[in-house]
Amino acid sequence: MAFKKWPFMNKNKTIEEKDDKIKIIPDHVAIIMDGNGRWARQRGLPRIAGHKQGMDNVKRIVEVANSYQIKVLTMYAFSTENWKRPEKEVNYLMKLPNDFLNVYLPDLIEENVRVQMIGHFEQLPSHTKKAVRRAIDQTKHNTGLILNIAMNYGGRSEMVEVVKSIAEDIRQNQIDVDQIDESLINDRLFTSHLPDPDLLIRTSGEIRLSNFLLWQLAYTEFWFTEAYWPSFSEREFREALLAYQQRKRRYGALS
Ligand code: FPP
Repeated sequence: MAFKKWPFMNKNKTIEEKDDKIKIIPDHVAIIMDGNGRWARQRGLPRIAGHKQGMDNVKRIVEVANSYQIKVLTMYAFSTENWKRPEKEVNYLMKLPNDFLNVYLPDLIEENVRVQMIGHFEQLPSHTKKAVRRAIDQTKHNTGLILNIAMNYGGRSEMVEVVKSIAEDIRQNQIDVDQIDESLINDRLFTSHLPDPDLLIRTSGEIRLSNFLLWQLAYTEFWFTEAYWPSFSEREFREALLAYQQRKRRYGALS
């Protein structure tokens, strides 16, 4: 198998030189970053200290994913259900994109990372929208890893929006019911421009989807770890990649 150059971390290294055990790289990895609160509690710290560490870990894992030439990394940062948390925590989580980008945007630009977002953008506070817009704009010509942040994202509400938009087009005689197929639905998802995730990672020992990418994960390989998100390191990421390459993906067919 021919390996492309490893372009952003060390211009002379191929993936094979970096890690000769990893032969099959997923294009798109999605991560449910869970366990920030428990990580903080274990250390006698407030929950927001866990979120702060979690934020810094996003950058570390972006570097790791970039070094393996993964094309898309979708990170679940705030769900449509997370608004139910105490106001102080919600406010902190809404400030995180700004904090993250203030510190790391210059590095992301340097590392050729392209920032994108999925989720209900309009309902975000204006300071969050401003930070995300700035990052999307300043990285839009980058050609490396896509860092796709899921913010105010919910799989069910995404489907509701898709159904409404199709119903509206039918009402206006733009499309016929018979034209509804998987690709029409796909084209109206937040992720319409992206391949479906190949690998889903969830940290913190919880084994559920929590309303994440319900349509897109139909044939994704799942990998769970007990590690809390702030402690999730390159070692665990590599374990997930090793597990992924052992999987036989059959998409419902015979091997
Ligand atoms: C769930 O763990 C985590 C979240 C709701 C927030 C995740 C956000 C980050 C890791 C940082 C996001 C970074 C950017 C750049 C926007 P939890 O706090 O519910 O953990 P617990 O189950 O242990 O309480």
